[in-house]
Amino acid sequence: MTINLNQPINPNLSKLTDYLVQVHKNGWYTNFGPLHQQLTKRLEIYLGVENLLLVSNGTLALQVAYKTLGVTSALTTPFTFVATVSSLIWQGVEVSYGDIDKYSYNLCPKKAEKELVLNPSMDAIVATHVYGNPCDIEAFEKISKQQKVKVIYDAAHTFGVKVDGKSVLNFGDASILSFHATKVFHTAEGGAIIFKHKSDFERAKRLINFGISSDGEITEAGINAKLNEYQCAVGLTILDDIEGIVEHRAQLFNAYRDSLQGFVEMPLWHEKANCNGAYMPIILNSVDIKNNLVLDLEKNNIQSRSYFSPPLERVFREAKHKELINSTAIAGRVLCLPLHAYMTNSDINLVVDVVKKSIG
Ligand SMILES: Cc1ncc(COP(=O)(O)O)c(C=O)c1O
Repeated sequence: MTINLNQPINPNLSKLTDYLVQVHKNGWYTNFGPLHQQLTKRLEIYLGVENLLLVSNGTLALQVAYKTLGVTSALTTPFTFVATVSSLIWQGVEVSYGDIDKYSYNLCPKKAEKELVLNPSMDAIVATHVYGNPCDIEAFEKISKQQKVKVIYDAAHTFGVKVDGKSVLNFGDASILSFHATKVFHTAEGGAIIFKHKSDFERAKRLINFGISSDGEITEAGINAKLNEYQCAVGLTILDDIEGIVEHRAQLFNAYRDSLQGFVEMPLWHEKANCNGAYMPIILNSVDIKNNLVLDLEKNNIQSRSYFSPPLERVFREAKHKELINSTAIAGRVLCLPLHAYMTNSDINLVVDVVKKSIG
């Protein structure tokens, strides 16, 4: 039997059917319908946020956030999923990379600040909470005030993560979530933007509906990025079980960490944050050791993936940057091990055994 890298949550079919029957009775399939309203409210309560706007995926969430906040020139991380940066390029934003911190693998605030001082035309920082591990949000808050730049967090991996008991999504001018099927919480495809300011939320709500306001006026050129009622039905069904899902994933993550401590490098977690078990990244001592491990895992029917490699400065070469020592080093040696809600502790033990034997 294969141990998959990831396995989407199957929504409970009988509950999902009840929601679908409601959609058919309502005869309301999209355009901010009743299930959309319910999911918005329930997510705001569960996550502890306000101004949450559901959208059709995490990539459009990023694009709409950049557009709403008027981003024209951004400093971002090269160590992230491609969408963080491709969406900036798609929006015509000038992109510069800053290096990551060598322990957390998130954008390094000190290096980011230096870049901003040297390039005062930059108007935004776009930082990813990589693997669900919060960035140094306090440092970015200070930089945002001092350098007068907006901060947008790609929080695609950070569903249910809190810092000091407060949702990490409450930091920055906006945070985005992805509800892609492989995420901790999903709607098959989907996403959300959480804005700090109500006025930004209201503008974005018009933007994702062709720029049309609630009274039917076209206020500006928009796009179509609405989440439909079928997708909301999936989300509402899964949300009923989300506490157990996050708890189980976090427990599996901790089991991995306890077993692998001292054998491999792992990201240094934000000391005041919980972990949602979104990913299980390890850093091997060399590229060869990593490549060998991939083969050994394959022989044992265990999937793995080098998230996030290649680093994006090798993909989008038009972006400006200085030397990105940490990003290059980490991206070459990183490997994500299987982690999903259907795994058991004995699956973890099997994977750990192969890792330990392979790296000697
Ligand atoms: C860090 C990050 N940002 C953005 C996205 C894009 O989200 P979506 O697939 O919902 O468009 C993903 C998705 O995997 C991601 O991991």
